Amino acid sequence: MGKKDHLTIDKEVVQVIGRELLDWYYRNRRDLPWRKNQDPYKIWVSEIMLQQTRVDTVIPYFQRFIEQFPTLDDLAQAPEEQVIKAWEGLGYYSRVKNLHAAVKEVSAKYGSQVPDDLETISKLKGVGPYTAGAILSIAFNKKAPAVDGNVMRVFSRLFALTDDIALASTRKKMEHIALQVIPNNVPGDFNQALMELGALICTPSSPQCLFCPLRSVCNAYAEGIEEELPRKKKAKPPKQMKMVMLWLSQGQRALIEKRPDEGLLAGMWGLPTIQVAEEESMQEAHLFCDKNGLNVTNIKVAGKFEHIFSHQHWKVTVIQGEVSEWASPLPSSWSWMTADQVNEKPFSNVYRKALQLFI
Ligand code: ADE
Repeated sequence: MGKKDHLTIDKEVVQVIGRELLDWYYRNRRDLPWRKNQDPYKIWVSEIMLQQTRVDTVIPYFQRFIEQFPTLDDLAQAPEEQVIKAWEGLGYYSRVKNLHAAVKEVSAKYGSQVPDDLETISKLKGVGPYTAGAILSIAFNKKAPAVDGNVMRVFSRLFALTDDIALASTRKKMEHIALQVIPNNVPGDFNQALMELGALICTPSSPQCLFCPLRSVCNAYAEGIEEELPRKKKAKPPKQMKMVMLWLSQGQRALIEKRPDEGLLAGMWGLPTIQVAEEESMQEAHLFCDKNGLNVTNIKVAGKFEHIFSHQHWKVTVIQGEVSEWASPLPSSWSWMTADQVNEKPFSNVYRKALQLFI
């Protein structure tokens, strides 16, 4: 993109936006736990949790996480499984694995001080342009753009931009706009004010324009096209997959599987799971047990449910059976566990849905 594609915002408009938005924010901002201080570690944790996750969902997780790991070093020193367990139910678990790896790096390389420059902080695992800008502005009062979906929606409407917000080039354009409108003295408050406006007023549908502090300078409002913006190319629908989860028990214990270190739900625990061609496939369940040397009786369907990940839509049949004997050794990723042991391990919601049929 050449310089000529950059939008230059009128100086007077910049003034109005700064004044009206901050004034509105200081009167209307929500009292959120990560707004209590500027501890870079806590801001970092909050910003990672808030990716793809609603504020209301994040609040109790954030509070528990910070109670469990009050400082960056507490988190750096904790075993990975304990850290993942603290994230259980929040989803997108690569976020917490990256956060843990990055925090360890900060502890080892930077004397446990979160880097306060763009270049260094951007090298940390899981710290993309948005997160880097959010931490630098909120924790360190640096003038840095923090352009998330909320901010892209606000800017698309404010300046009547029809660019597809799914494109990387659009984010760049938005960052260039942000640098023009962020005031020098309170960049963190301003970035949060933009996010807050997107969350409370400039909402995806039915924006509350009559209550908007920026209505007088909003181009979409003037043209009556606020509901048509932002433009976003539709994402591919999630892939439909039929799955069978197995609850294979013997007395008080069942076979639990540690998921592979890569891919979906890496590092979490689950039930042995197979992708099947036909829903409720008893035959494939039998075959799977045979292949793994298990002799299983009383096989039956225990329940069914659906679960949607960002890129996959699972139609799940849970099949239970009793293991009468098995040829050792079992696959190395499997363990026999009691209900108490299961509850100490991290499972994603998709497996908790199945587990609640039994424990
Ligand atoms: N979404 C992402 N970051 C946020 C923040 N700091 N406050 C409110 N909502 C957010």
